[in-house]
Amino acid sequence: MKIAILPGDGIGTEIVAEAVKVMNVLDLKFEMETALVGGAAYDAHGHPLPDATLSLAKQADAVLFGAVGDWKYDTLDRPLRPEQAILGLRKNLGLFANLRPAICYQQLVDASSLKPELIAGLDILIIRELTGDIYFGQPRGRRTSPDGNFPGAQEAFDTMRYTRPEIERIAHVAFQAARKRSKRVTSVDKANVLETFQFWKDVVTEVGLQYPDVELDHMYVDNAAMQLVKAPKRFDVMVTGNMFGDILSDEASMLTGSIGMLPSASLNASSQGLYEPSHGSAPDIAGKGVANPLATILSVSMMLRYSLNQPQAAERIESAVKAVLASGLRTPDIYSQGTTKVGTREMGDAVVAALTQSITKKTTTV
Ligand code: IPM
Ligand code: MG
Repeated sequence: MKIAILPGDGIGTEIVAEAVKVMNVLDLKFEMETALVGGAAYDAHGHPLPDATLSLAKQADAVLFGAVGDWKYDTLDRPLRPEQAILGLRKNLGLFANLRPAICYQQLVDASSLKPELIAGLDILIIRELTGDIYFGQPRGRRTSPDGNFPGAQEAFDTMRYTRPEIERIAHVAFQAARKRSKRVTSVDKANVLETFQFWKDVVTEVGLQYPDVELDHMYVDNAAMQLVKAPKRFDVMVTGNMFGDILSDEASMLTGSIGMLPSASLNASSQGLYEPSHGSAPDIAGKGVANPLATILSVSMMLRYSLNQPQAAERIESAVKAVLASGLRTPDIYSQGTTKVGTREMGDAVVAALTQSITKKTTTV
């Protein structure tokens, strides 16, 4: 199993190091190769996604990605900014299906800004289309406005667009995921205003006919944003476009108390995947050893499940994380009174310890 390790910027290097420690104690053989990406790659090679990094990622069965970005790159031309690395990887590897679970861990119910009864037991899977929509739609650019409210004025524009096959394939991902859960899909659109999202709604409805066992409903994105904070447990699988999914997945992550806990997977048609924490590079706490490595460690678990076909190893990691939380260890982002505050490395070590215990237990009972 070939894994490209791309730690990136900010806390990326610290959290990925802990995830690699976890991978090393699983009784599996990984061939891991590390490369620079994002601002770190720009500093060393003048480009956020150097050819060597891209070809390493393309050849791997899976990519473990940390995070990219830092304020110091904000003034660079857009093609050279760190964010272009992740967008380039998504596009070049065809990673169209982004799975972003929002799970509220029982022990962290008080870390949420919402009332415990609203979020206890929350388990939503947001499926975000990742290679289309206004993120990649051409044409885009700046020009002199040919019409509109201020003809002749300077303007900027982007293009929102989706083809039928793009919508069909992400809809299939959603319905199939729902079949393994509580068989409900909410498709989020803006069909009341946008042609692109009326088409989205029509195509998702059509695909839904092939899944009569799955209940499908449709919701406008503004209402979905409201329902997420009003009654989040009404959702199971949510499927939506690239831009709405970007926004709603950040909102959903915060329902759970800490974005530091949430992994994500970005998959292509051949189950090759990029796995990354849902949070960013957090330059404000970089190098301080306080970042929460659990989202990255849980991303390894998603990698084992979705790209490497090792569901048992995935479950072992998830149980180890739960055991560590149950033991009361907390990084500062999830700390509450009565628990034990630890740093990045101690948290990683604790997961490793829980895993090696479970491996020993397994072998002694056999
Ligand atoms: C995300 C991020 C990215 C996105 C940025 C870094 C380009 O916000 O993965 O959600 O907008 O997709
Ligand atoms: Mg985002």
